[in-house]
Amino acid sequence: MKKTILVTGGAGFIGSNFIPYFLRSNPEYHIINLDKLTYAGNLQNLTEVEGNPSYLFVQGDICDRPLIEKIFHDFDIQGVIHFAAESHVDNSISGPGEFIRTNVNGTFTLLDVARINWKGRNHRFHHISTDEVYGTLGETGLFTETTPYAPNSPYSASKASSDMIVRAYHHTYGMNVVTTNCSNNYGPKQHNEKLIPTIIRKALAGEKIPVYGDGKNIRDWLYVEDHCTGIDLVFHKGQSGETYNIGGRNEKVNIDIVKEICSIIDENRPRADKKPYSDQIAFVTDRPGHDKRYAIDAAKIENDLGWKARENFESGIKKTVEWYLKLHTN
Ligand SMILES: NC(=O)c1ccc[n+]([C@@H]2O[C@H](COP(=O)([O-])OP(=O)(O)OC[C@H]3O[C@@H](n4cnc5c(N)ncnc54)[C@H](O)[C@@H]3O)[C@@H](O)[C@H]2O)c1
Repeated sequence: MKKTILVTGGAGFIGSNFIPYFLRSNPEYHIINLDKLTYAGNLQNLTEVEGNPSYLFVQGDICDRPLIEKIFHDFDIQGVIHFAAESHVDNSISGPGEFIRTNVNGTFTLLDVARINWKGRNHRFHHISTDEVYGTLGETGLFTETTPYAPNSPYSASKASSDMIVRAYHHTYGMNVVTTNCSNNYGPKQHNEKLIPTIIRKALAGEKIPVYGDGKNIRDWLYVEDHCTGIDLVFHKGQSGETYNIGGRNEKVNIDIVKEICSIIDENRPRADKKPYSDQIAFVTDRPGHDKRYAIDAAKIENDLGWKARENFESGIKKTVEWYLKLHTN
């Protein structure tokens, strides 16, 4: 008998990389993917698991309690891996309400239904979160699991709130929970609105490539498949009640990423006039409250669970850009 787990938000960027990976690596599981299919969800990203008997897609909202109860009633759910979220910081600035609804109320609804259904059983709830809950760093230092939370955007505040509810369900009800806080993911299947797909799309369209502020913000980049291996490991081997930071030890200044991507496109798809795509870079007004620097100390997951990021940034970004270029073939 296969073990059934509920994955939420599996049609999004990370979830749609995770599901095929997880089914390949763990054939003993059956996955139910619950996704509302907001603008960020795309079933085209899951064609490789379509028709797989170990996979079932359910369209629905994580805030819809009767639906979550029905899923737990109809299936013997033996674990939850919770990706579903509103995830784009800019959208959280223009419309924070949906972030509070999905990220806070939705996480609460899932946890609470799991708690009631799992009484007396030790099934695991794995919450996927972000390094943005820790706020911003100065020029030095790294986020560890004990860094105090200091979220600065409505997005990170909603994720921090959900992390706290998960924590409370462990301490109050003894639920078997783990939380992973990861850095910026990159790789195939990311929505058009995010940084890397935007750079490529604008470059190829001959438009200005927008870079916030002075372009000096620093992010720590994690190849999405490395994130998937980290989640797999923590889901199976992490200690209940613990949090684990997952990061690729790839700190990059935003403007350098943009230039690197431009030069990969220069090689693969040169401009008709042979000028570099970096000529299209245009600095635009900074995002309000834009955090300066994020960087993760991944020592805990590396030392306690033996995880290591396999992809180096140079090869990872090349693979990623080439993947998006194929989408823009015609
Ligand atoms: N992408 C990153 O770099 C990154 C970094 C750190 C943490 N995270 C976290 O990882 C998780 C996945 O991120 P992502 O980049 O794949 O996000 P995404 O925006 O690409 O995908 C989110 C998915 O959740 C679904 N969804 C949204 N609201 C829903 C709801 N109410 N009910 C059911 N489904 C809903 C969407 O349809 C979409 O398929 C999120 O929790 C995010 O906070 C992402």
